[in-house]
Amino acid sequence: MAKTLGFFMALIAMASMAVGRDSTGWENAFATFYGDISGGETMEGACGYGDLFKQGYGLDTAALSTTLFNNGHTCGACYELKCTNNPEWCINGKTTTITATNFCPPNWSKPSDMGGWCNPPRKHFDMAMAAFLKIVKGTKVGIVPVQYRRVKCVKKGGIKFEIKGNPYWNLVLVYNVGGVGDVKGVWVKKMGDVKSGWIQMTRNWGQNWETGEGLRRWRLSFRVTVSDGRTLNALGVVPANWNFGQSFESKVQF
Ligand SMILES: *[C@@H]1O[C@H](CO)[C@@H](O)[C@H](O)[C@H]1NC(C)=O
Repeated sequence: MAKTLGFFMALIAMASMAVGRDSTGWENAFATFYGDISGGETMEGACGYGDLFKQGYGLDTAALSTTLFNNGHTCGACYELKCTNNPEWCINGKTTTITATNFCPPNWSKPSDMGGWCNPPRKHFDMAMAAFLKIVKGTKVGIVPVQYRRVKCVKKGGIKFEIKGNPYWNLVLVYNVGGVGDVKGVWVKKMGDVKSGWIQMTRNWGQNWETGEGLRRWRLSFRVTVSDGRTLNALGVVPANWNFGQSFESKVQF
């Protein structure tokens, strides 16, 4: 979380009065950065992703304030961001796209206009430093007004599934999701088990979905529904000899 810079407070207070959507679909928010240029602190965030490099997200990520995070339902969504209002610190004309991978928690001991940037109802992006530096000149200015809009997530390859847990409890991370990016429903099916229909999984945290169904030694299919209502089936994406801790890439993508 970025440092407080009293000098800019008056400007920021003025800008926060202008919150709302403009005619081009951009909405107003603020952005800070967290971690250092290596992005180590951005890994393993509240969306349940792990090594963001291995998983394809890299450092084009941000932690979202309570209002935007929506209890993890927004995890995986993509936003285009641009720094607004100030030629001194904004890289003019530059926008960058991030995936929501983490939560920026409120800090109730700080006023929302003086350090409590992620307190509700503020819309705030705490960006990986490398992403922040794509739209802001340097890190001297700790917080900047930005404009944002949801954009299509462009991912390489198919939707991926990582199976964690134990023989009595399965936790499946759904990642590398294109299109709107935020998964709102997941089902699993045991291929070859005539009694198995699509078994609905429940959200455990972020984009980790759980079921107590015994899945060992079955070839598995997953069905994924995203927030715009589109659904895809990844048929037989997991071979029968799967093990906990393994990841599987499907041939389908939004
Ligand atoms: C909240 O702000 C206080 C005061 O600056 C700080 O000491 C504390 O570590 C912060 N808490 C969190 C969770 O960031």
